[in-house]
Amino acid sequence: MKRKVILDVDTGTDDSIAIGLALNNPNFEILGITVTWGNQKVEDCTKNTLKVCHYFGRDDVKVYMGEHHQLDTAKRAEVVKVNPDGPIFYVDENGVEHNLHPKSFNLPEPLHGPEEKDAVSFVIDTLMNSDEKITIIPVGPTTNIGTAFKKCPEIKEHIEEIVFMGGSVGMGNVSPTAEANFYNDPDSVHAIMQSGVKCTLLPLNATHAAALPMSDADEFEKNGSKGLKLLADVMRIRADVSKHLGWHDGTHEIIHDALAVAYLIDPSVVDKMERHKVDIDTSASIKYGTLILDGDTGNENVDIAMHADYKKFKKILIEYLK
Ligand code: BDR
Ligand code: CA
Repeated sequence: MKRKVILDVDTGTDDSIAIGLALNNPNFEILGITVTWGNQKVEDCTKNTLKVCHYFGRDDVKVYMGEHHQLDTAKRAEVVKVNPDGPIFYVDENGVEHNLHPKSFNLPEPLHGPEEKDAVSFVIDTLMNSDEKITIIPVGPTTNIGTAFKKCPEIKEHIEEIVFMGGSVGMGNVSPTAEANFYNDPDSVHAIMQSGVKCTLLPLNATHAAALPMSDADEFEKNGSKGLKLLADVMRIRADVSKHLGWHDGTHEIIHDALAVAYLIDPSVVDKMERHKVDIDTSASIKYGTLILDGDTGNENVDIAMHADYKKFKKILIEYLK
């Protein structure tokens, strides 16, 4: 039987590869793709998502636009005073902006726009009306899903599992200890964790372990499949920006979001899983968005992928990115 899934994205370079993997996985029944703010404004992420579906010949997949910002914007303004957001783009000598996540993907126009229904209503209605349990895959800030939990806690009974790309243990990419998706809306992560729903996290620890060397981009391009061509382009965009901003030397790239979908295709791509009681720091401090493991509060039903196998990840990408 196919796994019923809702993919929640902020497309987004690495999101586009997660979408490609999901669309090409015959074992998924994609009920819809919900879009959140994050890598760009939600309107731009939605348009990018529709373009990616069109690129893969899947204009039939329903796309729902969601939330515009995190649950507590006043608190976020306080946090930014402690830990200002860093740049994720540079401007070249011709005045052209090179963004880690392009505002508008350089892909053909989709056949239609998003559905009229908003993402949160879609998530609640779909879960509440389903006889079968549904898997949710959030690979952006979790505002859509957190809002759905706050409005209708009963959705928990209809969820098989939530598989996130998010979080980090002992490392961070937007603060010393926080990962971007969870940092962008810790209050919504907290709302989800409080429910006790079964969760699996693919944090930075796993996605960094599965980094792809740039020599793979050349190999992917030569392969000739549409999906691998997009992956090669995405790797080059990311490596260029990462190198210019001094994040790393540009010899490899991390395609975070695709690992969450790859895990559902073949769980053995994760070669070190740990079970922890998980909560998240929601205080307006340097710890904002940092995972709290095995503290006084938290969800005891959480598996955290601490490491992933690069070779298996690459094999899944080659097999499923048609
Ligand atoms: C996450 O942040 C976003 O920028 C990426 O799309 C990914 O979901 C990595 O921290
Ligand atoms: Ca993302």
